Amino acid sequence: MRDLFDRIKENKGPLGKWASQAEGYFVFPKLEGHISNRMKFNGKDVITWSINDYLGLANHPEVIKADADAAAEHGAAYPMGARMMSGHTDLHEQLQNELAAFVKKEAAYLLNFGYQGIMSAIDALVTKDDIIVYDVDSHACIIDGVRLHMGKRFTYQHNDMESLEKNLERATKMAEQTGGGILVISEGVFGMRGEQGRLKEIAALKKKFNFRLLVDDAHGFGTLGATGAGAGEEQGVQDDIDVYFATFAKSMAGIGAFLAADQEIIDYLKYNLRSQMFAKSLPMIFVKGALKRLEMLRTMPELKNKLWENVNALQSGLKERGFDIGNTQSCVTPVYLNGSIPEAMALVKDLRENYGIFCSIVVYPVIPKGLILLRMIPTATHTMQDIEETLEAFSAIRSRLENGTYKRLSQAVAMAMGE
Ligand SMILES: Cc1ncc(COP(=O)(O)O)c(C=O)c1O
Repeated sequence: MRDLFDRIKENKGPLGKWASQAEGYFVFPKLEGHISNRMKFNGKDVITWSINDYLGLANHPEVIKADADAAAEHGAAYPMGARMMSGHTDLHEQLQNELAAFVKKEAAYLLNFGYQGIMSAIDALVTKDDIIVYDVDSHACIIDGVRLHMGKRFTYQHNDMESLEKNLERATKMAEQTGGGILVISEGVFGMRGEQGRLKEIAALKKKFNFRLLVDDAHGFGTLGATGAGAGEEQGVQDDIDVYFATFAKSMAGIGAFLAADQEIIDYLKYNLRSQMFAKSLPMIFVKGALKRLEMLRTMPELKNKLWENVNALQSGLKERGFDIGNTQSCVTPVYLNGSIPEAMALVKDLRENYGIFCSIVVYPVIPKGLILLRMIPTATHTMQDIEETLEAFSAIRSRLENGTYKRLSQAVAMAMGE
């Protein structure tokens, strides 16, 4: 037998093994200053393209005031205890009602954090006799929620309706044997590549199969649809989403999340979501802060319009310059380049140090080997000047990637490190 920690000391995990080369720069970077289009990184001004503050609410004076007023009145603790025990208030209820109305559902339930909340929703919606069918590219919180499931689950190929149909056939056969039902899970917007989940096609399959649909609309809420109600509204199928989920971590620039569905389903969930029943209630700062942010989502369409002006300018500018931005149908803007991980690191360093551009970098194993994904999140706070500077910088780094500059740089670094 060995000591449990021996393995941990030897193997730091798929990401942890890069810590000595990446930490503080590529991972766990420290962005300083107010959340905005321009912040400081390592003491330098950078244009920030990696923060999901879509509507620019994080540092909006009205939001800052609402948060500060709530903190002054309640401190950070109130209310204490889980919702069920002592952590419930009128304002939690008011926020739920307003969220439900905003996403056009009968009822909503607040969640402390999205990640645990949706895990518990998946856990509560199914029993061992039920079958889950979910997109293979799902966010980690969905995968972890499915891990709690004691029954059968099938993945379908990403956004592939033929594969979904095939798996629904298998699931239907199985459900006939177990006497259970089927839960299909998709994201409203897939956050890495920006494609919308094909909710309209998924909803159409309800004519052929008997299932219920759960949608994680973390990136669609506030950014898509005529009123900002998300990907379901955008695709005209909000009514076909049986359980709608969104987090406050993106458009709402806060903490917390919610589920929305028919009253009967919310009444059930509120008594069966383990991560909420046995955890502290969302503090009032975030409840009052969310009420303010939601009011702004409803009454200030100019924020979403400005966001989309920037999204369109950035995405069309990239396309005009011949960049591959995949099949994005949302604000999430991926730029795909060919190169190795060391080249990607040299390229990102060049972007940050010499061009003042800060965006996220995604490499294998999240995407196929040999591809580099630079992921950009435009917000309502970006300016045309930011976009112009960024497009210029992207053209420059692409030429350097293609003429081998980053390959040479990364080889030089490897030699200096004695590799
Ligand atoms: C698609 C998706 N679902 C769920 C979550 C988790 O939400 P939270 O940050 O509120 O835990 C995130 C990240 O914020 C996300 O991107």
